[in-house]
Amino acid sequence: MIAIRTEREIALLRQANQIVAAVHAVLKDMIRPGVITREIDAAAEAIIREKGAVPAFKGYRGYPAATCISIEEVVVHGIPSKRALKEGEIVSIDIGVSYKGYFGDAAVTWPCGHVSPDRRRLLEVTDLALSRAIRAAKVGAFLQDISRAVEKTCRADGYGIVRDFVGHGIGTAMHEDPQVPNFDTGRRGPRLKKGMVLAIEPMVNMRSHEVVLLEDGWTAITADHLPSAHFEHSIVVRENGGEILSASRECDWGQRPG
Ligand code: MF3
Ligand code: CO
Repeated sequence: MIAIRTEREIALLRQANQIVAAVHAVLKDMIRPGVITREIDAAAEAIIREKGAVPAFKGYRGYPAATCISIEEVVVHGIPSKRALKEGEIVSIDIGVSYKGYFGDAAVTWPCGHVSPDRRRLLEVTDLALSRAIRAAKVGAFLQDISRAVEKTCRADGYGIVRDFVGHGIGTAMHEDPQVPNFDTGRRGPRLKKGMVLAIEPMVNMRSHEVVLLEDGWTAITADHLPSAHFEHSIVVRENGGEILSASRECDWGQRPG
């Protein structure tokens, strides 16, 4: 069952997601060579709590941190550690909060200093895929239209779209119905209705779509060890496409034209 949220609930979901966006805006300026990922996580948790919200990832199925910080070949769910960022790496930051009983979730992949042109391109294409997927999330469309928008955007470059992790409904729980795949499953899926709230999150690998789970039970890396990008917004389905709840003026990912 996919929940239809009232405007009152959507306002609360926007508040939760705007806390996520505000944290992303601060963390953006921490991304530089030498910074330890645990420091980034600590800053995120402090801001989240200061705003009266709770870090939704912490304790979720035993996850130990407020954020997921996924460097280079780490696809998702990288655990903040003593590891320092290095010049030329790409770094995904994923943040979730709960606020007044409603959840926010968004992710962005930043370049650390100057990155190679192929990494830059991977970030741009993944961000563009999210943009197009959001535009496809309109009343009367099918869930499949979202997945197809991502797939179409990534195809030409020979990238591998991750299949083992998907987007999700979000509301009074972090993960609700439906699952939102980033590839065409061959099924139309449910029709999208006004007030459905989705976290759309393409994860795109430089080449192979295959991922491997490390022994910590969380860290997912690319099977070929090539870099991977991840962008996520929480959106509400509207007549003309998804309205972004986690939009941020300071970091305008997911809102590029094209
Ligand atoms: N954005 C991811 C998701 O929606 C983050 C979950 S991380 C976890 O699944 F630690 F909470 F599992
Ligand atoms: Co998510």
